[in-house]
Amino acid sequence: MDDLFTLPDGFLWGASTSAHQTEGGNTRSDWWAFEHSGLTDRIEEPSGSACDSYHRWPEDMDLLAGLGFTDYRFSIEWARIEPSPGEFSAEALAHYRRMVEGARERGLRPMITLHHFTAPLWFTERGGWAAAESDELFARYVEAAAPVFAEGVDHVCTINEPNMVAVMATGLRTVAAGGSLPAVGLPSPDEATTEGLVRAHRRAVDSVKSCAPHVRTGWSVANQICRPEPGCEERAATYQRPRETVFLEAARGDDWLGVQAYTRTRIDASGPLPVPEDAERTLSGWEYDPQALGAALRHTAATVAGTPLIVTENGIATADDDRRIAYTSGALAGLAHAVADGVDVRGYFHWSALDNYEWGSYRPTFGLIAVDRHSFVRTPKPSAAWLGAVGRTRVLPTAAAS
Ligand code: BGC
Repeated sequence: MDDLFTLPDGFLWGASTSAHQTEGGNTRSDWWAFEHSGLTDRIEEPSGSACDSYHRWPEDMDLLAGLGFTDYRFSIEWARIEPSPGEFSAEALAHYRRMVEGARERGLRPMITLHHFTAPLWFTERGGWAAAESDELFARYVEAAAPVFAEGVDHVCTINEPNMVAVMATGLRTVAAGGSLPAVGLPSPDEATTEGLVRAHRRAVDSVKSCAPHVRTGWSVANQICRPEPGCEERAATYQRPRETVFLEAARGDDWLGVQAYTRTRIDASGPLPVPEDAERTLSGWEYDPQALGAALRHTAATVAGTPLIVTENGIATADDDRRIAYTSGALAGLAHAVADGVDVRGYFHWSALDNYEWGSYRPTFGLIAVDRHSFVRTPKPSAAWLGAVGRTRVLPTAAAS
């Protein structure tokens, strides 16, 4: 292939955030309750005011548009829209509608995620996704939220990382019962939660289409990027099946499928292995692996042939912004090579636009833009200017970085 890879017209070029991680004060959600429950020491600090993006979203969008991004993926918060069962907040709906219009006014195409890890507390108390009625309750919320996405939105993501939601259901049950989580690898996803999520996704796709037929719908899966030791391919497939594959397969027939890739999972005959002592680790404790994205794209394309892919998250938690640039340029080279080999990729969203609440702590900084924890002042990092410029020039790096 040529040394240069030019982004095709219409390729989505953006950054991602989620409501709970950035808005602040998401008091009606199950996560807010969990953060204050004292159930686990994995919660180092509560989310509190997060980045105050509920009020400062215009600033976030001004920065992203000014940096050269053309797309912004953010989530709307079910717990704000439906704080009590069947009661919908006109204020919250108007707020998110203003965000969609605000994005468009700045030249950003909004991708809306309907559920990003958090649900109203009442929903979780009624059994969450494992409850028989969960798909119905989700569809009712999606239909109520239609005014937010009916115009000006081309892409809707129903549920972010349903595989991690199912894993977290097991994790939560385990810690609530005083048990401990596996030291390496992910717990086995809760089966009833998995089934509920798949049903909810299918119903939500129908609900979105019936309210807004033009919207392209999909969901985003956390890719496990299993790297089996020689001879351990079957062990890897067994590990991967409930934690990823069933969720990829459930996306067959969707308009697109979201790929979210950060790091690899090494596997031998005993199962997932710890990160080797001598490997570089990021602030989330994960192995530094820019090649994860290309591998995830190829694996996903092979599993769900014919479904267009969008990278809805990829990034690195680091205090060293040069490392962020190196990681991301390696990841984009992997994307460019996958496309050259025929993988149908329609967009790239970096995680994350802002340093935000990383599910228990503000320590792992994934942001292109730093946020002062007290004043909320936003400061774009050099990586933000670099990645925005890549979008402006439309040319991707193709040389793999180390
Ligand atoms: C999630 C994000 C999270 C990121 C980094 C993904 O699992 O969708 O909410 O912050 O990875 O951990």
